[in-house]
Amino acid sequence: MVEPLLKVDNITVHYGRLSAVREVSITVNQGEIVCVVGPNGAGKSTTLLTISGVLAPTTGDVTFSGERINGMRPEIVARKGISQVPEGRHVFTTLSVEENLRIGAQIRSDKTEVEKDIKWVQELFPILGERRRQSAGKLSGGEQQMLVIGRALLTKPKIMTIDEPSLGLAPNIVDRVYEVLTTLRKERGMTLLIVEQSSERALKAADRLYVLRNGQIQIEGNASELQDGEKVRQAYFGFSETEQQEDGANF
Ligand SMILES: Nc1ncnc2c1ncn2[C@@H]1O[C@H](COP(=O)(O)OP(=O)(O)OP(=O)(O)O)[C@@H](O)[C@H]1O
Ligand SMILES: [Mg+2]
Repeated sequence: MVEPLLKVDNITVHYGRLSAVREVSITVNQGEIVCVVGPNGAGKSTTLLTISGVLAPTTGDVTFSGERINGMRPEIVARKGISQVPEGRHVFTTLSVEENLRIGAQIRSDKTEVEKDIKWVQELFPILGERRRQSAGKLSGGEQQMLVIGRALLTKPKIMTIDEPSLGLAPNIVDRVYEVLTTLRKERGMTLLIVEQSSERALKAADRLYVLRNGQIQIEGNASELQDGEKVRQAYFGFSETEQQEDGANF
């Protein structure tokens, strides 16, 4: 069997005495799109922050290309090829759009390739080319989301992890973002680990899906097998659809 590119192996992560994530295992194979969905406070961001070295697991390991990376500093993890697009679309508002993109490329020494990649990212998200001289703070939320994804791509990652790319965006912008993500996989073989609160889009884009609730994986499987949604809904809310309707919750 081929070894997964990224393996989160039975990790438990604490904030002080609170365990935010308990015995979570996730694998991502080369070229896959894997989504982790779960409600507020499920532990999604905590899991991604542990992968990128910002947090250290209390128990369990994170391995990348067969190498154990937990305990390594975030900048070392980034250099190994894991690029994280964190929650909240952080752009440097006073810098131009292109300067923001170039920040992603700072860790690289292949400068001619960097120039090509900047053009490529500007083609992928044309708005980033059109607005390249404008300050990034003037971009809309959706455009800023494209910018942070573009910036992460410029690190030339082997895998990108993205925390809630669709949060607060209009549906047509979410479509555009996911269109690019699926193109990246198709044309560049990019491997993606995406976390989302809403699972509908994640289900459409993903090869495999994990549902995380209350710090634990509730269900996992091929996205095609989970298409009907009822099993996912139950795992997500922790109760059945009938109860959910009574509760008035949306999915
Ligand atoms: N810095 C922190 N200090 C203490 N507790 C934290 C901290 N960050 C998160 N938590 C707690 O850990 C748990 C998991 O939080 P996390 O941010 O990973 O959830 P999430 O799934 O990303 O939620 P959301 O969808 O709201 O972003 C929650 O109970 C949260 O309150
Ligand atoms: Mg989060």
